[in-house]
Parts: sequence; C-alpha cells; structure tokens
Amino acid sequence: MRMIRDIREMQLASRAARMQGLSVGFVPTMGALHEGHLSLVRRARAQANLVVVSIFVNPLQFGPTEDLERYPRKLEADSALLEAEGVHIVFAPSPEQMYPAGATTTVHVGELSDKLDGRSRPGHFRGVSTVVAKLFHIVQPDYALFGQKDAAQVAVLRRMVRDLNMDVEMIVAPIVREADGLALSSRNAYLTLDQRRQALVLQRALKQVESLAASGERSPEKLRSAALAVLASEPAAALDYLEIIDPDTLDPVAATTPGALVAVAATFGTTRLIDNLLLPRC
Ligand code: PAJ
Repeated sequence: MRMIRDIREMQLASRAARMQGLSVGFVPTMGALHEGHLSLVRRARAQANLVVVSIFVNPLQFGPTEDLERYPRKLEADSALLEAEGVHIVFAPSPEQMYPAGATTTVHVGELSDKLDGRSRPGHFRGVSTVVAKLFHIVQPDYALFGQKDAAQVAVLRRMVRDLNMDVEMIVAPIVREADGLALSSRNAYLTLDQRRQALVLQRALKQVESLAASGERSPEKLRSAALAVLASEPAAALDYLEIIDPDTLDPVAATTPGALVAVAATFGTTRLIDNLLLPRC
C-alpha cells in the first residue's frame, strides 16, 4: 500500500493507472475508520482495479464552534486497517496543501446545501462539496463510494456531479450499524456510556415510522408525530430535525411515497448524531 501526501504525486499515480487501463475506485473519508468506512472500501475493491482512500479532516466543513480540533485523528491505525483491506493508495494531504493561502474558490450546491444539516450547520455543505470536488480532480476516480448514513451529503454531492458534469459514477452503500442498531460514526467515540444508551432512541424512532408505514399509514404528519413521540421519551435527546422527505430534493413529501427518506438529527450532550431510513419502494 502506498501512502501519498502530495497532490501532484496523487494526480500522476491516478493518471498512470488509467493509462494502463485500470479503473479507479475512490473512498473519501475523514479517518478514524470503522466498519462503515470499511464497507465502502470493500465495495470499491469489488468495483474497481485500483482503490484509493483519502483521509483528510476537512477544516472547511466544520463551523467555528464545532469539533475540528478534537475530531479523532488516527492515521497509523487507519493505515493498518486499509492495508489489511487491500487498499492500493492512501491519500492523506495536509490542510496547507489542500487550502494554500489565497485559495478562494468554493463549490456551492444551491438550495440543497441549506436543508437538513445545512440548516443547522451553515457552510457545512459548501465545505463538503468544495473538498469533494477538489478530491475528484486530484484522484480522478471512475467510481466514488459514499455511505447512505449521510443522506443529505449524498443528495448534495449527486447534484454537484450532475450539475458540473463530473465524469464519476457515485455509488451509495447502506448504513452499517452496531448489533443494537446504533449507526456507526467516528463521533460515537465522544459518547459516554449513558449517552450511547440514550442515542438508541434515534433507531427506535426510525423503526416506529418503518413499522407504521409497513402497516399502511401514509400520512407524513402522522408518521412524523409518532416518531417525535418516541424521541420525546428520551429527554436527553435534543432534537435538531426529524423530516420525511424526498431523498433527491430533500423537500418534505406530500404523501409518504415509497422510497421517501426519514432523516433525524439530535444532540446528546455535545455530540450531534444523525441517522436515517429509506422507506422501501414497493
Ligand atoms: P466521514 O464522516 O469520514 O465518512 C466517510 C464516508 O463513510 C461517508 O461517505 C459516510 O457516509 C460513510 N459512512 C460513515 N458512517 C457510515 C456507516 N455507519 N455506514 C455506512 N457508511 C458510513 O463524510 C465524510 O467523512 C466527509 O464529509 C467527506 C465526504 C470525506 C468530505 O470531507
């Protein structure tokens, strides 16, 4: 496995691979890797000849009061995990390389960037779309793998790829969970034992919507109220949003159509967690 820290070196490695006729699969991450990330790596391995994983804690997507400084950084342990998965290249640039003084160009996906997490984290999606556009230019992948865990991020990036005619196929993989249902997240490491138990309410609220929808309930208002009642049963959960929306536009659905997205975000102590569920398409 090769570790590349230099942008130009990464571009040349990717160009060389593609000149040999190899396809490039790319998994962008911020490190502190867990099974959710590794599921994307395995999918990339199955899809492409050369697998590149980036590890970059992107300062542009953190708000001024957010956890940029304390975000877990574990490059050595991450590299060992990726090596064991048969990854070919780890790309881990420095913030100075990615954002040299004077860099002022950003990518902003209009409207979508102000919904869900974008509403409570102003500037977050501008940071995400800018860094992913840059990484796509550097790694030049044929396939890019993302997790359904970050459903709004998926909507924003799909729109960016479409609007800017980026020559990359986005593949979205399902949410990986702990045995008790908690969605894996690098931020779970911040939770105390109590908060970890309290956080299971997110999964219970989503399950409630799923079972009501399965038994024929079609009213988004009723489904939403039922989920809110479950969330209210855990007073430690400070709700940010719970919405039943179209997964592409992130707008509320009028009637709960199959394939609608149920997305939730709440804070436990100082840790903000997100989770979601795609209602089955019948
Ligand atoms: P990060 O939070 O490290 O996540 C990297 C990728 O792993 C994302 O596509 C995310 O959706 C996916 N992922 C995280 N938890 C998952 C889980 N439990 N199951 C399945 N997939 C999961 O998302 C980012 O980094 C950044 O915003 C990034 C795209 C790298 C841009 O900086």
